Amino acid sequence: MKNRINQLLEEVNQLVAANPDELESLRIKYLSKKGEVSALFNDFRNVANEEKREIGQLLNELKNAAQDKINELKETFNGSTDTEQKTDLTRSADPIKLGTRHPLSLVKHEIIEIFSRIGFTIAEGPEIEDDWHVFGALNFAPEHPARDMQDTFFIEQNPDVLLRTHTSSVQSHIMVQQKPPIRKLFPGRVYRNEAISYRAHCFFHQVEGLYIDKDVSFADLKQALMYFAKEMFGADTQIRLRPSYFPFTEPSAEMDISCNLCGGKGCPFCKHTGWVEILGCGMVDPNVLENCGIDSKIYSGYAFGMGVERITNLKYQVKDLRMFSENNVRFLEQFQSAY
Ligand code: PHE
Repeated sequence: MKNRINQLLEEVNQLVAANPDELESLRIKYLSKKGEVSALFNDFRNVANEEKREIGQLLNELKNAAQDKINELKETFNGSTDTEQKTDLTRSADPIKLGTRHPLSLVKHEIIEIFSRIGFTIAEGPEIEDDWHVFGALNFAPEHPARDMQDTFFIEQNPDVLLRTHTSSVQSHIMVQQKPPIRKLFPGRVYRNEAISYRAHCFFHQVEGLYIDKDVSFADLKQALMYFAKEMFGADTQIRLRPSYFPFTEPSAEMDISCNLCGGKGCPFCKHTGWVEILGCGMVDPNVLENCGIDSKIYSGYAFGMGVERITNLKYQVKDLRMFSENNVRFLEQFQSAY
């Protein structure tokens, strides 16, 4: 028995394990209930009384040695697997998901950027307005249908507190506040009481431009808009101006660009006309200048206004306006940009 104990003691002291699985089988082999050490403890019953003391001590020594060795090996494993995890420089990092700009913000920034290169700076006005700034100052006749409940959101039934229906209202503020020359851009949200569908919404965004100085002519307007169209949609883009009507401009026009999908040849997108409408514009009506305290005999000016959703549609072919306000991440994350 003594020999067997000494033999095991030697074995145990030289144990090595390559991995935690091997270590576990060693533990089972020596220390489990059916293991070698337990077997010796079972045999202990048969040891002669006078030897019990010595053999008992030896057995305990063996048991402790086996336990210590297994623990020692376990520790080296724990240690090494831990550090491996902490210092695995080859592991790829978790990707950090970057957000994207909303397509309307992208296009708004691009419009602003293009006009800023020809001297336009930004001004903003309130979304909750009075009748004078949205309609009165801008030459809308008292019974003009745009004032109607069907178009305009009034706040608390008060006909003088309303949500602006166009960013032209900022013109009224700026012309009252500043002396010409004025060369400003007004980006902002506007509201109209429309049933929501793929082509209409109760709120949308506009960017308005206003230039007032001595001797501003229609040719200046046309040149600025042509520059914008080519910068926004490409150097080959053609423009055409069709006579139109707005109460606050005279003469007024709507501007089309050659269809940027088919290059003007005609396709379903431009309804086979080769042209798509992008904005309204005109020379500021002298009545408007006078309403805002600017001498129309000395100064003249032009104004233009465009829908940001419309321009975004043309640039990215978003067919359904509602996509812009539904916050569908799969839609939104397609728009990557440096802005
Ligand atoms: N305010 C007009 C609209 O909302 C657009 C426009 C602006 C037209 C400036 C002419 C000049 O439709």
